[in-house]
Amino acid sequence: MNMRIAVFASGRGSNLKAIHDAVISGKLEGVLLDLAVCDRPDAPVVDLVHKRNIPDFIFCPKDYADKNAFETVIAEKLAEAKIELVVLAGYMRLVGAVLLEKWEGRMINLHPSLLPAFPGKDAIGQAWRAGVKETGVTVHFVNAGMDTGRIYLQQKVTVDPDDTEESLSEKIHLLEHKLLPDAILKIMQEM
Ligand code: GRF
Repeated sequence: MNMRIAVFASGRGSNLKAIHDAVISGKLEGVLLDLAVCDRPDAPVVDLVHKRNIPDFIFCPKDYADKNAFETVIAEKLAEAKIELVVLAGYMRLVGAVLLEKWEGRMINLHPSLLPAFPGKDAIGQAWRAGVKETGVTVHFVNAGMDTGRIYLQQKVTVDPDDTEESLSEKIHLLEHKLLPDAILKIMQEM
């Protein structure tokens, strides 16, 4: 069994790295990370993608007339690479109509909270400031809303009395690096 995936990222890329590590180690046997898409040429994830020789499409949104224009090019790249699942791992943009029309149901996103709690930016900070006793990580299918699509996998993280916002972030990121590869494996097994 094989599944060709694309990973979209805008920043650090620790989740793209975790997915690639899982492919290399055999944990994601059969998964082919055949395209990395990045909308910020200066992001650290770009170095990672180059060092690991992952085929990429790196672009600057301002070089295009609008979202439809760059999403049309992304859609072509996904089709050329025969991608079967799109994974948003820290892609800091709402997906628009062009990609949704083709990819809804085959596109997942990673979010650092127990959705529907704390959608949008800085979910870990939002949870921390709200003083919750538990938060977590969600993998969900992407729709037109902000972190509102069907939830696929979720796992809780306890906020301990001695946690700081930084230690909580660390726990959440560690869990993300496991939960996202788990979700990809589960989707492949269900195909
Ligand atoms: C993750 O916390 C993810 O949940 C959120 O953006 C962050 C991306 O981190 N959507 P990284 O770039 O994979 O390190």
